[in-house]
Amino acid sequence: MKKVFMTWMTLCLTVVAFACGSNDPEEDGVTSINEQNGNGSATGKRSLVIFFSRAGENWQVGNVERGNTAIMVDYIQEYANVDVFEIIPETPYPSNYMECVNYVNDVEIPQNLRPAYKGDIENIADYDNIFIGGPIWCGQPPYIFRTFFEKHAGELNSKTVIPFGTHGGSGVGSYTSLIKEYYPNATVLESLGISGSSIRNESSKTTVKNWLNRLGFDKQSTAVRSISTRNANDGVSYTLTGQHHNGQQGIYIKNGKKYIQ
Ligand SMILES: Cc1cc2nc3c(=O)[nH]c(=O)nc-3n(C[C@H](O)[C@H](O)[C@H](O)COP(=O)(O)O)c2cc1C
Repeated sequence: MKKVFMTWMTLCLTVVAFACGSNDPEEDGVTSINEQNGNGSATGKRSLVIFFSRAGENWQVGNVERGNTAIMVDYIQEYANVDVFEIIPETPYPSNYMECVNYVNDVEIPQNLRPAYKGDIENIADYDNIFIGGPIWCGQPPYIFRTFFEKHAGELNSKTVIPFGTHGGSGVGSYTSLIKEYYPNATVLESLGISGSSIRNESSKTTVKNWLNRLGFDKQSTAVRSISTRNANDGVSYTLTGQHHNGQQGIYIKNGKKYIQ
């Protein structure tokens, strides 16, 4: 496996130089949606996830039926209210890992291809927040994202865009750069990159949850940004005015955390 890792590092050497950051999670000009909207909440704003992910044999995970980034999207869907558009290539990429690396390295990148994808999203205008994510291929987002961005030229300029993805060590900073290149006027929030080999771990799920929470996208986000209680961990539910919560639907605080019922 180590040999394979060295191979894509060597094969992709020239473009890897463009990859930015490698920490998980990545902090990229952290601004939460709360600050953006000034109302402390992403509620009422519609969010869309656009992603690409390749199933098959991959780096450090063997042969997978669902791609690494697709798993990350599952977590996002679990914790945030989002619609999803998957970019599916018209011609599938090789499912063999090294064949795919060689194809991307020898054909897709040098020929500056714009791979076609199936269908399209017609109603981007209906969304305020757009998550964009996928794998890192040779230090950058797969070129199919360029196809998408060029088809939707300018359409994300007025949006809030949140880059994310999975990788084998390069980080996902190159998504942020590419998005800024195509949509210089978009508001780009903190990205999250997770290593593909650890995406199926419970800790990655928590990382995604915390990231969404920081940005104000988690399903429990409200206009309340921070709270404090005198008996922070007494297991009792309190209303926002500090009374005992009577169990009716609404917002309440328990053990220092905010809940919506
Ligand atoms: C063609 C190809 C090139 C890759 N190049 C890189 C790279 O330059 N840097 C990196 O960190 N990971 C690289 N990887 C690893 C993937 O980014 C990683 O496995 C990712 O989690 C795959 O996501 P997916 O299953 O959603 O497609 C590469 C993988 C493939 C298939």
